[in-house]
Amino acid sequence: MDKIRVNFVCLGNICRSPMAEGLFIHKIKEEGLEKYFEVDSSGTGGWHVGEPADPRMREVAKQHGVHLPSRARKFIAQDHEDFDYILAMDGNNYGDILDLRKGTKKEKAEVFKMRDFDKDHVGKDVPDPYYGGKEGFQKVYEMLARSTAELLAHIRKERGI
Ligand code: 4NP
Repeated sequence: MDKIRVNFVCLGNICRSPMAEGLFIHKIKEEGLEKYFEVDSSGTGGWHVGEPADPRMREVAKQHGVHLPSRARKFIAQDHEDFDYILAMDGNNYGDILDLRKGTKKEKAEVFKMRDFDKDHVGKDVPDPYYGGKEGFQKVYEMLARSTAELLAHIRKERGI
């Protein structure tokens, strides 16, 4: 069976999408589903390419026993052909992702906003914590913990695993 390929996308690929990626990996490991998945993250902007997650995001992750393996890379048009599920953290990311979809040969990926999987907050953004204080990072963690759990449940149902 082909792997189910999931790509979490934000602007810088150092705060929100690395946290989403780390949480999703943590959950598939807990549920014994690693063999079914390939998980990645990326950013629509290229300023931080090659960098690990922001130390403030890594600190929150560590407090919750979550590892963040990402090195920042830029989201590219090819990602639409390579991934099954693309999760945008906010409306700007969503628009930028769709702009890169035009002209791709195979429009494989389903593109969602991450909080479409956060029950009472469908359609809302995961706010960018980069220029704010510590509490913003904790809030992002909480939103992503709920949303990634629901996303996994959705994929399990859709794929029958
Ligand atoms: P992220 O946060 O999109 O959640 O990774 C940001 C990180 C860096 C910048 C913007 C957002 N930046 O402008 O450098």
